[in-house]
Amino acid sequence: MSTHKANPQVTEALGATLSDSYTLLQIAHIYHWNVVGPNFIKLHEFFEEQYTELFTAVDDIAERLRALDVLAPTTLKALRGNGTIGDIDGAAPAEKMVAGYLEATEKLIAGLKKLRKASGDAGDQETEDLAIGRLASHEKTAWMLRSLLK
Ligand SMILES: [Fe+2]
Repeated sequence: MSTHKANPQVTEALGATLSDSYTLLQIAHIYHWNVVGPNFIKLHEFFEEQYTELFTAVDDIAERLRALDVLAPTTLKALRGNGTIGDIDGAAPAEKMVAGYLEATEKLIAGLKKLRKASGDAGDQETEDLAIGRLASHEKTAWMLRSLLK
């Protein structure tokens, strides 16, 4: 038994967050592989930390959908397709990768704010708590990326 009736605004925003989080994970992995330049070691390690953290996050987000008695995406297309983050250039110079990762992070943050609002409005504090935790993590990353680009 789920503790909440699935609220469509909440589950839609949760699905978008899952897609964008999975896309960001894949971007981090591609950048981890292909980044070049004098900051190679730092960025290679940074992107590894990112995809490692996101791997745990996407699992928590998908399992929250299940706890709300909604199936996680059932196709690869659906896993990728409910989000807002577009494709990337995985052969770009390091600075463009950092800027691109910041842009993707900001899209995920915008989606998480929708999820925080929808779950707050629905009285779903567990999903709201998940959204707040993810927001804190991605906002910290966005700050670090902005600092790197100054
Ligand atoms: Fe690696």
